[in-house]
Amino acid sequence: MNTAKRLQQVEEYYFSKKLREVRQLQADGKPIINLGIGSPDLAPHPKVLMALQDALGHQGVHQYQSYQGIPALREAMSGFYKSFYQVELNPQSEVLPLMGSKEGIMHISLAFLNPGDRVLLPDPGYPTYASVSRMVEAEALTYSLSAENNWFPDLDALEQEDLRGVKLMWINYPHMPSGAKAEPDQLKALLNFCKRNEILPINDNPYGLILNDEPLSLMRLAMEMQVSALELNSLSKSFNMAGWRVGMLVGSADLIQAVLKVKSNMDSGMFYGIQQAAVAALQTDKQWLSELNSTYAKRRDAVWTLAEQLQCEFSEKSSGLFVWAQLPKGAKNSEAYSDELLYEHSLFVAPGTVFGPSGEGFIRFSLCVEEARIQEAVQRVKAGGS
Ligand SMILES: Cc1ncc(COP(=O)(O)O)c(C=O)c1O
Repeated sequence: MNTAKRLQQVEEYYFSKKLREVRQLQADGKPIINLGIGSPDLAPHPKVLMALQDALGHQGVHQYQSYQGIPALREAMSGFYKSFYQVELNPQSEVLPLMGSKEGIMHISLAFLNPGDRVLLPDPGYPTYASVSRMVEAEALTYSLSAENNWFPDLDALEQEDLRGVKLMWINYPHMPSGAKAEPDQLKALLNFCKRNEILPINDNPYGLILNDEPLSLMRLAMEMQVSALELNSLSKSFNMAGWRVGMLVGSADLIQAVLKVKSNMDSGMFYGIQQAAVAALQTDKQWLSELNSTYAKRRDAVWTLAEQLQCEFSEKSSGLFVWAQLPKGAKNSEAYSDELLYEHSLFVAPGTVFGPSGEGFIRFSLCVEEARIQEAVQRVKAGGS
């Protein structure tokens, strides 16, 4: 059977392929330290686990749930936005629970893009924006980001380009993979740019609470300026719930309604227990989050030491779950260098090119590894081989 043409536009996700090789090396006895993937290894707050257990006794727990999520979850999401981002959202109409923010990228694309429409997306950036755009037969138009511009788009240069047919612009601040944060003034300029060009901006904001003292929501600025925008958020990273699959979309009622139209035709609600657990997570005391961040800060120090040992330069100003570092002088390219670390030291790091051509010259270290293992990696590099 021939596969659909749209599959010719996308390749298997890099990590899906590479992790098969990493697992094989592990099975062959290699002591791999996996600094490649941003999947939080720590447990959610104990109250989250209790909430799931308690929910199992609830009448109707095994039944289909509302497409829009239970009211308690939408209220908790709205409360979360108020408490962390100073954004007032109507839980009935301006919040849509999702099974992770990744699915939201597909739902939004299906809701707003026709074949041939154009979409602005970051390079380097989360690869799903491009692959989903291609799957819905839209044209992915990348904008390059660089260290010189602190990984923020050059809006003046972008405005000179032919923007006809561009409907959406994906942004992601704090930015993955670089960890760069955007200033409110930069985001305001971006909102004005989008308004002038009739483009809907969408901020993907899953790293907002990780190693970031000043969480910032595009929605807050968009509401102040009365500009249309959407924002995705997620419990995967901030609450250690990546495998639970809970995220959210926030924005004005008309835009949320359009996305709900897609989503309600694709799934049949989220398991009740997970929704109740997500409510507990979103109400987590800030103390728990600050302890989580202390753990990440220690890990980041250890990764900085590792990067220094490898003679890879990095910025200390970044936030999020990763350290984004330049290749040492003389390294051939990102993929070759990542392979060198894998085969010589049994260390897996993501080559920057996974996130687009402008990621060339960089590698990305994840902080989702115990500090002791990172120290072990440092010792391994010092010793000169595994
Ligand atoms: C920038 C970015 N957006 C979205 C996601 C997906 O997150 P979720 O688990 O909420 O689907 C990731 C996951 O790595 C990410 O890095």
